[in-house]
Amino acid sequence: MAEQDKKQGIEQIKDELRGMREKALAEIAGTGLLDELMKLRLQYIGKKGELTRILRNMGNLAADERPALGQLANEVRDRLEEALTAAAARLQEKAYEIQFRQERIDVTLPGRDRPPGSRHPLYQTMDEIEDIFISMGFGVEEGFEIETDHYNFEAMNMPKNHPARDMQDTYYINSEILLRTHTSPTQTRVMEKMRPRLPVKVIVPGKVYRRDDDATHSPMFHQVEGLMIDEGVRFSDLKGILLAFVRRFFGEDQEIRLRPSYFPFTEPSAEVDCRCVMCGGKGCRTCKGTGWMEILGSGMVHPNVLRIGGYDPGKVTGFAFGMGVDRLAMLKYGVDDLRLFFENDLRFLKQF
Ligand code: PHE
Repeated sequence: MAEQDKKQGIEQIKDELRGMREKALAEIAGTGLLDELMKLRLQYIGKKGELTRILRNMGNLAADERPALGQLANEVRDRLEEALTAAAARLQEKAYEIQFRQERIDVTLPGRDRPPGSRHPLYQTMDEIEDIFISMGFGVEEGFEIETDHYNFEAMNMPKNHPARDMQDTYYINSEILLRTHTSPTQTRVMEKMRPRLPVKVIVPGKVYRRDDDATHSPMFHQVEGLMIDEGVRFSDLKGILLAFVRRFFGEDQEIRLRPSYFPFTEPSAEVDCRCVMCGGKGCRTCKGTGWMEILGSGMVHPNVLRIGGYDPGKVTGFAFGMGVDRLAMLKYGVDDLRLFFENDLRFLKQF
């Protein structure tokens, strides 16, 4: 190859290198994306990029010309490298700026208020009932909401086909398992756990279920069961305890009235009324003009129930009662629709 051609050769390659550098610098300056920068780096100074391709022609040059070209090639690579690094830093900076602006927290904004919750009025009532009986020496037991036919009915002296079963429209899960219709099945569970110890003196607060739903009935409601067994427990003990309870719960001027009633698991049985809290006993809509309100069922534990629970009805006696917590809460707070307790509208609940 003539000396002249080679001279042209090296100048041509140098021009090509410089042209490439200017083009690359312009593109680097023009991009706004980090991804794009990566691509430009590969395109120009990557192993299979422009620079490599241009230098491939170096083979045609004389040995003494190569260092000068090599030096220029290094300069171009360094220059592009530098430009890429600077551009990357610039773009990263911009990305952070945007991110910071988007994620900025204004620490001067007022905090968001989280009002403290409060105990549901039904459970406030339940707590109050519990406290009164605990102060009279009763323990607190919990039974099971899912019960067996045996404990809910059989052990409560209600064999299959007993007419009293109809009084409690039952949610059955299968023929043997059901949602308890009252807290009374816990009487037997407590006796089985306690026997032969005396006295048995417990209350059982909890949820019960019946197929019922209107202004004064909910399919799920709350009862507190009471059970006391000992030698020589008398009907007058029941009356005394209930009077003490009613006075603590509704006020010291309260009175109670016992009306003969029937429950299969108590004998004798009594329904207990107290003075109407709405009218003070004069007679009003709530008490249907009678001046009295029914608050619970009670009686002396039936010998069969004692026997099934493992106590000898010849040696011990007991009383039991079951009160409706929801009803007591309605009366205490003057709420005339039971459903308000279950809708859980905060405007209602906040009043307690
Ligand atoms: N278990 C009865 C009811 O749910 C109430 C009750 C309990 C009556 C204990 C007498 C003795 O209606």
